[in-house]
Amino acid sequence: MHHFRYDEAGVLCAEGVPLPVIARAVGTPVYVYAAATLRRHYRVFRDALHGLDSLIAYSLKANPNLSVLRLLADLGAGADVVSGGELDRAQRVGIPPERIVFSGVGKTESEIGEAVAADILQFNVESVAELAVINRVAGQAGRRAPIAFRVNPDVTAGGHAKIATGHRSTKFGVPIDRARELYARARAMPGITVTGIDVHIGSQILDAAPFRSAFGAVVELAAQLRADGHDIRVIDVGGGIGIPYGAQPGLAPETYADVVRATLGTGTRLVFEPGRLIVGNAGMLLASVLYMKEDSERRFVILDAAMNDLLRPTLYGARHQPVVVQRPDGQADHRTCDLVGPVCESGDIFAEDVLLPPLAAGDLVAFGTAGAYGAVMASEYNSRPLVPEVMVSGERFGVIRRRPTREESLALEEPFSVEADAVEGSP
Ligand code: LLP
Repeated sequence: MHHFRYDEAGVLCAEGVPLPVIARAVGTPVYVYAAATLRRHYRVFRDALHGLDSLIAYSLKANPNLSVLRLLADLGAGADVVSGGELDRAQRVGIPPERIVFSGVGKTESEIGEAVAADILQFNVESVAELAVINRVAGQAGRRAPIAFRVNPDVTAGGHAKIATGHRSTKFGVPIDRARELYARARAMPGITVTGIDVHIGSQILDAAPFRSAFGAVVELAAQLRADGHDIRVIDVGGGIGIPYGAQPGLAPETYADVVRATLGTGTRLVFEPGRLIVGNAGMLLASVLYMKEDSERRFVILDAAMNDLLRPTLYGARHQPVVVQRPDGQADHRTCDLVGPVCESGDIFAEDVLLPPLAAGDLVAFGTAGAYGAVMASEYNSRPLVPEVMVSGERFGVIRRRPTREESLALEEPFSVEADAVEGSP
């Protein structure tokens, strides 16, 4: 469910704003987000969790734009952060520390220090080595850091091998069968308070079964740990709920919530870390046709958006449904084409064999479900500027991240003069 629809004139709009208006004002490529969809997804998920003692800690990595975060913070969201930068963003929009969890396999000492100072709800710890650093940093600050181990339940789940994290062969978490021993070690540390258990098995999971088996294993572990005398107050179940991409259906939040109720019950405080579910279908990537290239074997639509603006098709073979922004009048003769970017790599392909009405230079094309892991994974490859972002709300829109100028893109580079004719190896 989203708020990108065609108006009576056949023009694709984000809520009440025609996309060509945004293209003219901001230029393309550009990401466009619908605030109404963000609000709706947050509320649908919250309502699905009714009856549970839950905290929705939005996973910033999916889309950390401050305007997106501010809206979610106003709706009551907490934050799942994985870096000092994300912690800073969460704090800037006023997300209270008791609604922030810190995840990630490689937290640095200084990031741990920032999170200890902020007094966050919980560190989701991924290794004994990390636990030792948290203990030391918290101890030096005269504090005890609240921790959960991220346990790896050894289940296979996730839309793509690169985003499946719950199998024991991945770098994530500690093996669930070693958890009791590790919790015992944690309890003995003066800078640590054991508060919970954490699990996250992957992303874009469309089937309820892996969640059921992972949560079932966590419930068993919680019982053992409580019997061992640990005060397990929080169970963080991570994110990963699969969403619709084009015609492919997602995992209904209600189905997911039923699995949570059936396995974890209602007695413990539960933290959820959805990212994609909240923002995925709230965003589209808007691009212009630069050229129609029809003189080779295939018909290419060359766009001004590239793999560095939306990396998912290249990286995961992901399909973001392409649509034309202006629907043709009457019966247009649809033709099969490949939508590609201008970057010098043959992997710079958004979609192959797509049936679209005739297109010409200057026409607009939009890709769906681009709100999650879209703009945030963009780069300046080929010295193309970072793609800007726009938020629409009703009839209004604002640029929430502008396109950098050439000067801004160059500003971090410093000259360092090196002689062109120096001889290799000479003193
Ligand atoms: N919690 C943890 C610990 C995570 O690692 C992730 C995602 C989430 C929550 C949020 O998962 P979500 O609800 O969004 O599925 N770049 C990839 C996705 C990587 C996901 C990494 N972790 C993509 O574009 O598909």
